[in-house]
Amino acid sequence: MRIKPLVTVFFFSIVFAVSPAWAGSCLTSACHQALAGLKYPHQPVKDEECLACHLQRATVHPIPKGKSFELSAKGAKLCEQCHEVLGKKRVVHPPVKDGDCLSCHNPHGAKGRFLLDNGEDLTTLCLGCHDSAPFKQKFMHGPTAVGACTQCHNPHESGEKWLLKEESRANCLKCHADLAKALKESPVIHSPLKNSHCTSCHNPHGSAVPHVLRKKLPDLCLDCHGGIGKKLTAKTPHKTLQQPGGCIECHQAHYSKAKGLLPSDEKSLCLGCHGSDKLGSPPLRNIKKELDGKKQLHGPIQAGRCSACHDPHGSDYASMLRGAYPTGFYAPYQEGAYDFCLGCHNKEMLRFAETSIYTKFRNGKRNLHFVHIADKRKGRTCLTCHEPHAADGEKLISKEGPPFGAWLIPINFKTTPTGGGCVPGCHRSLKYDRDKPVVYGQEGK
Ligand code: HEC
Ligand code: HEC
Ligand code: HEC
Ligand code: HEC
Ligand code: HEC
Ligand code: HEC
Ligand code: HEC
Ligand code: HEC
Ligand code: HEC
Ligand code: HEC
Ligand code: HEC
Ligand code: HEC
Ligand code: HEC
Repeated sequence: MRIKPLVTVFFFSIVFAVSPAWAGSCLTSACHQALAGLKYPHQPVKDEECLACHLQRATVHPIPKGKSFELSAKGAKLCEQCHEVLGKKRVVHPPVKDGDCLSCHNPHGAKGRFLLDNGEDLTTLCLGCHDSAPFKQKFMHGPTAVGACTQCHNPHESGEKWLLKEESRANCLKCHADLAKALKESPVIHSPLKNSHCTSCHNPHGSAVPHVLRKKLPDLCLDCHGGIGKKLTAKTPHKTLQQPGGCIECHQAHYSKAKGLLPSDEKSLCLGCHGSDKLGSPPLRNIKKELDGKKQLHGPIQAGRCSACHDPHGSDYASMLRGAYPTGFYAPYQEGAYDFCLGCHNKEMLRFAETSIYTKFRNGKRNLHFVHIADKRKGRTCLTCHEPHAADGEKLISKEGPPFGAWLIPINFKTTPTGGGCVPGCHRSLKYDRDKPVVYGQEGK
């Protein structure tokens, strides 16, 4: 409802003295009874102070097809006779700025409070001017769904952007008190919840996506974490990222107790899925079984860090490893080929045929890692002897041995204070000793 010019302009200069008793008859007469029947009448209407707003400018009332009253002021000025002047704040709602109070309020009273006909649900009122599409989404935010727009917006003016009643984040947290409390108590908080608005991820009104998110997952996350997006298409992606839960299979969106917004410590998180015999087809190994009860866990696993070796989001290397690592049984050493292991272990380990410092796997000075791995023809990979995760033997050397086709090659490795030896399925029993090198061909003698 907008203010229409009541009448074409008349110029009557007669000031008609109207007695209150006369005014009192406006509602009681058969003429304006409708106003008396309003459920929530405007106070001056209830008090029959019609003349606060209407000035009589014709002596005759009623005039057939004419008007004998004109408004005592135009636009907001009419209301400002009794109400505070609006429009001084930073953001002023355009209809308020235009003095178009009647676009929302019925001057006499209404079916609902605040001179509004819609009652509590303001949807129809607001959507009289605003595009309705954002308010008819599949998933609606509770207060918006019921038209409680003024829980968040001031309909007139505000010091905040978007006519918000309070600063945007505080505005959300005043209702989401559980979250407010958790944010105070959590050691790890997702940066946008500290430094940005909730609306960087949520639409306050409604969305085509559950939890009124602005976008579906993982796209929402990838808008800010583009680097991780590239990993979705890496040579070895982590397939679980492409599943519907996406990122939130492993991360909490708001806060967490554990590092990296993880829901628990990292090892438990990974083993939660990789503790199964049925993950993937063909199924991947059950890593939980591989670790359970083992005498030695590989250093990073002792520290609970699977991600020290695997990029949890995917990588260009086999098994999502963080560096180059050959997967077969044979792969002669060459610069770069074993970067993955050598990123943490001694880089010089495989470079020299003779050494007295770079490895303990030597006979005297003869580097036995070099012998096995740098063999140009049949260099053997680390997994020939070492388990990547855990072993019952010392030095992560497996008791059962590595798979060679259908056979697990036994190694039967034992250490001594200055060396060790094995009885493998590869060659005859051989020992090595760092202090008193074994002369091969004459051992045991
Ligand atoms: C707070 C100011 C205000 C008061 C008080 C007020 N009116 Fe009005 N009235 C208006 C305005 C503004 C309009 C013009 C509405 C429009 O054009 O949509 C109006 C319009 C009218 C009209 C024209 C028809 C209509 O309903 O649009 C009548 C009749 C009327 N008022 C009667 C009364 C009577 C009788 C009283 C006292 C019981 C009264 N008014 C009190 C502001 C007021
Ligand atoms: C003659 C004085 C007067 C004028 C003019 C006047 N009002 Fe009021 N208005 C009042 C009084 C008195 C109240 C009751 C205040 C209270 O309850 O605190 C009131 C209350 C209201 C309320 C709250 C109603 C509720 O349900 O709580 C609204 C909204 C309102 N006025 C809007 C307007 C608008 C819009 C105009 C201009 C078209 C206007 N008023 C003009 C005196 C006036
Ligand atoms: C876009 C719609 C809209 C316009 C335009 C509008 N109002 Fe309101 N007004 C509301 C709503 C909605 C409420 C109820 C507020 C609430 O629920 O907190 C309200 C409440 C009020 C109140 C009572 C509560 C309070 O905030 O004091 C007054 C008085 C009032 N308006 C006066 C005005 C005046 C004067 C104008 C014109 C300058 C105006 N309004 C323009 C929607 C509007
Ligand atoms: C839970 C709080 C909340 C509720 C409830 C709410 N809004 Fe909003 N609204 C916001 C926030 C926050 C923004 C700023 C949006 C942004 O940051 O993108 C906004 C923006 C807007 C905008 C301007 C930008 C746009 O999207 O067009 C309009 C218009 C709007 N709201 C209308 C409404 C209407 C109408 C209702 C009720 C049907 C409503 N709002 C209910 C919080 C709310
Ligand atoms: C008479 C028309 C009209 C009505 C009714 C109306 N609005 Fe608006 N509103 C506008 C116009 C015009 C703008 C400025 C253009 C735009 O953003 O769409 C605006 C802008 C807004 C904005 C953005 C303010 C900013 O920061 O730029 C919000 C929020 C908003 N309206 C909320 C509401 C709510 C809530 C209601 C219902 C209580 C409502 N509007 C009813 C006309 C209206
Ligand atoms: C007036 C109180 C109120 C305000 C303010 C409010 N919310 Fe809500 N919000 C609710 C209610 C009520 C629900 C529904 C709760 C339920 O179903 O458990 C809800 C639900 C939600 C949901 C879950 C929706 C779903 O489908 O799972 C999200 C997300 C949300 N709000 C975000 C926000 C954001 C962001 C803001 C600030 C822009 C905000 N809320 C401000 C009351 C509020
Ligand atoms: C970085 C993006 C992001 C930001 C910022 C964000 N949320 Fe969320 N929120 C999400 C995601 C994703 C979900 C769905 C999580 C899930 O299902 O585990 C969610 C779910 C919710 C839920 C419903 C589920 C629940 O935990 O109750 C509410 C309510 C909620 N958010 C409120 C907020 C509020 C309030 C803020 C600002 C203080 C906020 N969110 C900021 C991404 C975000
Ligand atoms: C609006 C931008 C934005 C969105 C959307 C966003 N993030 Fe973030 N996120 C950040 C910023 C900024 C940081 C802090 C970056 C930093 O410290 O390098 C961060 C940090 C993180 C961290 C590291 C936290 C830590 O403490 O180590 C994780 C994990 C994370 N985000 C996951 C997500 C997930 C999952 C989503 C989607 C639900 C998401 N992010 C959506 C901006 C965003
Ligand atoms: C399989 C579990 C898992 C999934 C799924 C997952 N992450 Fe991670 N993410 C991790 C782990 C583990 C870390 C390392 C945490 C730490 O810093 O301790 C991490 C770290 C991060 C970090 C901070 C460090 C960095 O690498 O930049 C961001 C940001 C991140 N993840 C975003 C995402 C996004 C976005 C998605 C969805 C596309 C996602 N994550 C999916 C497990 C996962
Ligand atoms: C939500 C379940 C889930 C979680 C949690 C999870 N994964 Fe996975 N992971 C999978 C699925 C599903 C596959 C793909 C299985 C298949 O189809 O081959 C996979 C595959 C892998 C692969 C083999 C990749 C390849 O193609 O060779 C590695 C390595 C791996 N995950 C490591 C981890 C690590 C490390 C963590 C913890 C940071 C982790 N996963 C957490 C579900 C999970
Ligand atoms: C010290 C480095 C390292 C750490 C730490 C590590 N891994 Fe691995 N992981 C590897 C290597 C190397 C491979 C590839 C060789 C192989 O499959 O035996 C591998 C392979 C895998 C595979 C693929 C198995 C298959 O069947 O193809 C999964 C799944 C896996 N790791 C999960 C985990 C989980 C879960 C953790 C944490 C509990 C973890 N890894 C910690 C080095 C590591
Ligand atoms: C992320 C770092 C990291 C990577 C990558 C890594 N390791 Fe380790 N490794 C360690 C740590 C830490 C220890 C325990 C401390 C130590 O003994 O040096 C360890 C211990 C070992 C041990 C046992 C040493 C002993 O004295 O008991 C062997 C054998 C071993 N790693 C082999 C490998 C092999 C083979 C690879 C490649 C498949 C590899 N490591 C990749 C960090 C790593
Ligand atoms: C032929 C079996 C064999 C192969 C193949 C092998 N290792 Fe070893 N490795 C050993 C033995 C035996 C020891 C124990 C030496 C000792 O302490 O007596 C050892 C020890 C280690 C150690 C502990 C530190 C040291 O050098 O003494 C690391 C680290 C290691 N190996 C890494 C690797 C890496 C990385 C590869 C692959 C590039 C690899 N190994 C391949 C047998 C092997």
